[in-house]
Amino acid sequence: DWSMAEFRAAKIAEIRAQVGNGRVICGLSGGVDSAVAAVLIHEAIGDQLTCVFVDHGLMRSGEADEVVGLFRGHYNIPLVHVNAETLFLNGLAGLSDPEAKRKFIGATFIDVFEAEAKKIGGAEFLAQGTLYPDVIESVSFTGGPSVTIKSHHNVGGLPARMNMKLVEPLRELFKDEVRALGRELGLPDVFVGRHPFPGPGLAIRIPGEVTKERCDVLRKADAIYLEEIRLAGLYDAIWQAFAVLLPVRTVGVMGDARTYDSVLALRAVTSVDGMTAQAFQFPGDFLSRVTTRIINEVRGVNRVTYDYTSKPPGTIEWE
Ligand code: XMP
Repeated sequence: DWSMAEFRAAKIAEIRAQVGNGRVICGLSGGVDSAVAAVLIHEAIGDQLTCVFVDHGLMRSGEADEVVGLFRGHYNIPLVHVNAETLFLNGLAGLSDPEAKRKFIGATFIDVFEAEAKKIGGAEFLAQGTLYPDVIESVSFTGGPSVTIKSHHNVGGLPARMNMKLVEPLRELFKDEVRALGRELGLPDVFVGRHPFPGPGLAIRIPGEVTKERCDVLRKADAIYLEEIRLAGLYDAIWQAFAVLLPVRTVGVMGDARTYDSVLALRAVTSVDGMTAQAFQFPGDFLSRVTTRIINEVRGVNRVTYDYTSKPPGTIEWE
């Protein structure tokens, strides 16, 4: 793609000019955006870049291994894998307000990066895969007065006490453009085609208090849902699909026993850029099949619902 080749060359020059001989650390979230940012920056400045993958314990099933495998196996990009599950889960205990959860996670990410930057002897720059829609949505709602919808944890700059400058080479791009750039940079198609995954991870898919147990229940259900979507050949037709574990219990019957367990909501949307979205219409008995599997295989869930809300008025994530 001619325009992406141009963009790539221009950004590489821009990154070199901004960074000079400085050191950069880049947070990998597991998503496409941060991976593309990392590969682009590595092309510009080589080993002046260190990537940090913070496993906050809020990843999907198998995600941490996939990301670390891709970067260590495919690229020669230095990668630090930080296991920070306890730090994040302890801090999330007792938090149930969506913005409080997002703000804690964002701030804790920064703390972990800061600590890692110190360990590699200091880094002047922090790289992030911020996209144009992230910038807009953290600032205002289209056309209206300035109202924060959600604090995207990777937007809004760094706390004043931090001595790092931001490198955000994707700030002007929409998702489809990031994917084109990823292909231009030679990232594997399966990786480039991945559904978006939010920085705060499963924490914003567990309304109410987040616990390790609830994360484990959600991970299992989510993996079944995604597996069935892939088996049905629907993965690429969907912008994003995921499960949400609700803080609501309902009564059910299993065999001849009463159950009183959590409700799970399934969400799948089509979208072009994440700014607006429509509920995906699954064919035939797909949702019944997934529901049966989840209730049979995941302890702690006894009812499954499907979310038909568009964006607007809904958002894609529930928090
Ligand atoms: P919403 O829920 O705002 O989501 O309609 C739009 C898209 O953005 C993703 N999302 C995030 N991505 N950090 C991210 O990197 C975040 O804090 C964040 N919050 C939402 C969401 O998954 C969807 O693709």
